[in-house]
Amino acid sequence: HAEALATLRERLAAAPRWCVLSGAGMSAESGIATFRDAMSGLWSRFDPMQLASEAGFRADPARVWDWYAERRAGVRAAQPNAGHRALGAYAQRHPGRLTVITQNVDDLHQRAGNTDALRLHGDVLGERWLDRCRRDPGCHPDWALAGSPPHCERCGNLVRPDVVWFGEPLPLAVFDAAQRAVDAAAVLLVVGTSGAVWPAAGLVARAHRAGAWVAILNPEASEVDDEADQCLRGTAATLLPALLDGL
Ligand code: NAD
Ligand code: APR
Repeated sequence: HAEALATLRERLAAAPRWCVLSGAGMSAESGIATFRDAMSGLWSRFDPMQLASEAGFRADPARVWDWYAERRAGVRAAQPNAGHRALGAYAQRHPGRLTVITQNVDDLHQRAGNTDALRLHGDVLGERWLDRCRRDPGCHPDWALAGSPPHCERCGNLVRPDVVWFGEPLPLAVFDAAQRAVDAAAVLLVVGTSGAVWPAAGLVARAHRAGAWVAILNPEASEVDDEADQCLRGTAATLLPALLDGL
């Protein structure tokens, strides 16, 4: 384990450009629940199709907004953990060398210093219109947040959380930037993701095919382990400082 850490540290020290692909496990030690961890995962307690799909939102927007209000409060109360801080401090020391690509909708990478982190699944603290406003394209969602569920008093258009739901495409420009970043990376650290959801999970094989050294940082096995050169069995808040402090 110490040997594996040391060789990975050397690879990172020599990497002109490298990437992180993070998932919910990155924020677990900040107290934000993951989705698929046994027992504690959100999807073992809630129905993702009811709470994280457009159909579920249209069927009962108030219920979905109640659930997201709770997740937003959790994100606001959370602090970046030692893993986020190690990545943010590295980015301050080496501007432009590290691209953080995250599936997470919290803002902990940004608050820790990776202000240009690519968020594939949106921003749980943001909101946007559910439908394009037929009456006034200049209408802005933050005028409508008072209603419950938040909606436009003038045309009834609902406001939705600014996250990517099941079955929805990822923001193209963000995913395109993520693909370009992994194509140019010498190393990809895959931190805290089960690799269960596409197309985000496909970035791991893409990096590997492009010649990156791929290391998985996860206490458990994941669905992308077979695309990796090495798997470090540990948590984000312990492994990332051990890898990056002093680089
Ligand atoms: P999905 O099953 O709809 O697949 C998303 C896209 O990836 C689709 O275009 C699909 O064709 C493609 N895809 C699926 N399997 C693939 C494979 N094996 N190889 C290549 N492409 C594949 O994805 P989903 O799980 O329904 O979720 C859609 C998006 O919404 C995901 O990115 C997911 O992470 C996100 N999401 C976000 C939240 C949230 O709370 N922020 C909750 C649920 C889902
Ligand atoms: N450090 C590192 N990894 C951890 C930690 C930790 N402290 N705790 C848990 N993990 C790992 C788990 O072993 C698991 O492999 O984090 C992973 C969490 O996986 P998921 O809960 O599936 O989260 P994620 O992979 O981000 O889900 C992908 O699915 O529901 C959608 O859009 C949602 O972005 C999410 C996507």
